[in-house]
Amino acid sequence: MELASMNPVQLRPFKIEDYNEVHALWASTEGIGLSESDAREAVAAFLERNPGLSLAAVSEGRIVGAVLCGHDGRRGYLHHLAVCPDWRRRGVGRAIVRQCLERLKTAGIPKCNLFLYADNAAGEVFWRRLGWTVRADLHLVQRPTSSADANEKSRCKSC
Ligand SMILES: CC(C)(COP(=O)(O)OP(=O)(O)OC[C@H]1O[C@@H](n2cnc3c(N)ncnc32)[C@H](O)[C@@H]1OP(=O)(O)O)[C@@H](O)C(=O)NCCC(=O)NCCS
Repeated sequence: MELASMNPVQLRPFKIEDYNEVHALWASTEGIGLSESDAREAVAAFLERNPGLSLAAVSEGRIVGAVLCGHDGRRGYLHHLAVCPDWRRRGVGRAIVRQCLERLKTAGIPKCNLFLYADNAAGEVFWRRLGWTVRADLHLVQRPTSSADANEKSRCKSC
């Protein structure tokens, strides 16, 4: 997908071969919290479970933006939307999100959720600008699946 003639960014499916480049982007991006769920094997499993939904934005062979997108048959989820600082405010984030929503809609998924750190003010402006609602009536309720970890306070700042 061509965003605009003066903005040669292509959106294409996120492939596991992109992992190192995308992980480096996530690791250097504010507002993205990484965990064991972002290890190569875990990302590979996510991509396999949700074929063709996650996207990479590519310019001249370099990944300038990426997102993980999937669904559980009921709701869609976006994780780790990130655009390189030098490519921001050029419509890349908006284009990525639009394509993800189109793909989720085609898959029969009526709503999409995402996790946003409460202190990510710029991120909140972005999502609100795109028509998303921040649900103040909900809390994220979470615990590890491992009972060994159940009584430990989570040290990992990740959703
Ligand atoms: C949030 C992020 C993905 C936006 O990507 P982007 O490509 O710059 O976004 P777009 O250019 O498509 O912006 C769409 C609109 O959102 C709003 N917006 C985006 N970033 C904004 C900012 N920092 N401050 C205020 N408004 C902003 C603007 O209204 C913008 O439209 P405009 O430029 O025509 O005014 C990018 O800033 C980023 O990677 N941030 C760090 C990671 C993060 O917070 N991710 C989301 C957490 S889930």
